Amino acid sequence: MKAKSRGYKADLAFSGVFVFCCLFFIAGFFTSNLFSQEAYGSRQRRRVVETVDSEFTISHGETGDGSISMIPFQVISWKPRAFYFPNFATAEQCQGIINMAKAKLQPSHVLLPKGGTGQANEIRTRYIAFNVLRYEVGQKYLSHYDAIDPERYGPQKSQRVATFLLYLSDVQQGGETVFPYENGLNMDENYDYTKCTGLKVKPHLGDGILFYSLFPNNSIDPTSAHGSCPVIKGEKWVATKWIRDQPDS
Ligand SMILES: *[C@@H]1O[C@H](CO)[C@@H](O)[C@H](O)[C@H]1NC(C)=O
Repeated sequence: MKAKSRGYKADLAFSGVFVFCCLFFIAGFFTSNLFSQEAYGSRQRRRVVETVDSEFTISHGETGDGSISMIPFQVISWKPRAFYFPNFATAEQCQGIINMAKAKLQPSHVLLPKGGTGQANEIRTRYIAFNVLRYEVGQKYLSHYDAIDPERYGPQKSQRVATFLLYLSDVQQGGETVFPYENGLNMDENYDYTKCTGLKVKPHLGDGILFYSLFPNNSIDPTSAHGSCPVIKGEKWVATKWIRDQPDS
């Protein structure tokens, strides 16, 4: 009887351990599922850019996703409103965009932006169009506004509300994105553009910046002027996308 009850206890202990192991396994399974969902989320995001490379299409964002995928960012300025997105794209994605731009960078297609001395190249996909700019040593982009002032240039079909810049390369020296009027500084007429002073963002491969050219009330933010300091060493590749208040025509 004693032996039996001990056996019974041992059985109980054994099944206790067994249940514990099962729970542990199930918990492990769910946790790994969670992680793989997270990985799936980021893979999805990556795939969006990859489509540009392979099929020249970018699908619209989907609503009602089952989980929130995190896109980390940091506020770098409130005047203008500017946000930094580290590791927004992978090195392969950036190289893919550069290759696409190089393939299209024929002399007849080269657009030189006003005040810019880099080579620009517009890439149109089925859904979005963006520009790829290449700056070589000494090339720069004088500070300017992306928003178009209707009082000076007449009514426009659409307004550029914000701009997203994606650095496709590192730059050994120079080539920073500069906001000379950050926080209302340098706004007098004596500002020396050649000195490239103000809030400077050093290009870093795969990182992005989003900044607004308009206030929430739709008037132009005077501190949203920006430019590119001259490249001193290396080469700068950047993709830019204007975010408009009306769909691209
Ligand atoms: C729009 O908002 C800005 C910033 O808050 C403010 O300085 C400006 O006066 C506003 N403009 C109008 C027309 O309300």
